[in-house]
Amino acid sequence: MKAKATKIVNGVYWVGALHWNGRTFHGYSIPGTTYNVYLVFGKDKNVLIDNVYGGFVNQLDARIEDAFAQEGKEVKIDVFVQNHSEMDHSTHLRETIEKYNPEAEIYASPNCAKFLEQQFHNFSDLEINTVQTGDELDIGGRTLAFVSAPMLHWPDSMFTFLVEDGILFSNDAFGQHICRPYRFDEDYPIDIVKREAQKYYANLVTLGSPMLRMKLDELTKNGIVEQIKMIAPCHGQIWKNPEIIIDLYAKWGSGVCKDKITVIYDTMHHSTEKLAYQIAEGIISEGVDVVMYFMQDDGPDDVITDILDSKAIALGAPTMMNKPFPRIGNMMYWLDCVNFKGTTSEKNALIFSSKGWGGGAIGKLQVDLESAGFNVTDTLDALFVPDEDVLEEAFNKGAELARSIKE
Ligand code: FEO
Repeated sequence: MKAKATKIVNGVYWVGALHWNGRTFHGYSIPGTTYNVYLVFGKDKNVLIDNVYGGFVNQLDARIEDAFAQEGKEVKIDVFVQNHSEMDHSTHLRETIEKYNPEAEIYASPNCAKFLEQQFHNFSDLEINTVQTGDELDIGGRTLAFVSAPMLHWPDSMFTFLVEDGILFSNDAFGQHICRPYRFDEDYPIDIVKREAQKYYANLVTLGSPMLRMKLDELTKNGIVEQIKMIAPCHGQIWKNPEIIIDLYAKWGSGVCKDKITVIYDTMHHSTEKLAYQIAEGIISEGVDVVMYFMQDDGPDDVITDILDSKAIALGAPTMMNKPFPRIGNMMYWLDCVNFKGTTSEKNALIFSSKGWGGGAIGKLQVDLESAGFNVTDTLDALFVPDEDVLEEAFNKGAELARSIKE
């Protein structure tokens, strides 16, 4: 096939792949994605950073050929840097090495070297140079500085900083699932890029928030943050304005939120729904933003995205067989997985339910929410269909929840 490489600065090219019809990733919905691979030309060595998912090697090969053609150079890769071993960035690594230079140097974190063999079972005969923070590689007029980044988002994750150009190749961190023709943040409405970055952080990075805070502190203290001119992640748009995403990551990682409440509910005969609507009205009456999700139709990934920058949630489910209505169970499982305990500020939660007789949903949801890092401040357990008094109580509890988060 034929495909063009994108020059991102002189001597550095994007040579990755576009996955136009990708619709799920790590279990959450996406509007397509990219597998970003970068080719860096040094005076002495040419370096390929990361690789592509299974089935996308033809795009990678075509763009590598094109990048060398644009440089007017013979195709020759001297160094392979692998920042992370997950398959979307490594499936074709072995064959790429075989194709371009079986004698090339290979650099990766110790865990990445181990994980490559454990996933593909064909790396044990290759010599992989294992590197960590502080290690550097001179490629002739350009220096690669390696930065260990464990749990952002795997134990093997690593960043590679191209010192002279100020480009941070961050692999998954700072990414977004977007698949568009142009490569930079400023090529599209920035609110769309930020929203996809938020969805990515919420669903993939939240659990690693303590490590993220430590890494940002380290990069600030050792002077790298002020040298970064561009962040080139392995999914989505390249940040020509890195301060935007660094600021957002600092906020998301430390639990800095908006005056916003996410209402999540499911309903059997519309009673819990009536409570949800009244709680929303109470929140609005206090001038606080509200986003509402109905779990019959909405995905937990979008809910998690909005919870990330909400100061509180209101969660409602009918009681069925002494437990929360089952579709809420999927939502609770996601909340437990991503877990907001690692962020530094606790989110308040109001739990509401309608029941026929014995109840039981609220107790179960309270245990699960507290385990996922929420501070349950109030509950509302309505009997069958809420009457006007109960609806007023729901309104008042929504207003109270809103007042509890206002600055
Ligand atoms: Fe994009 Fe952890 O893979």
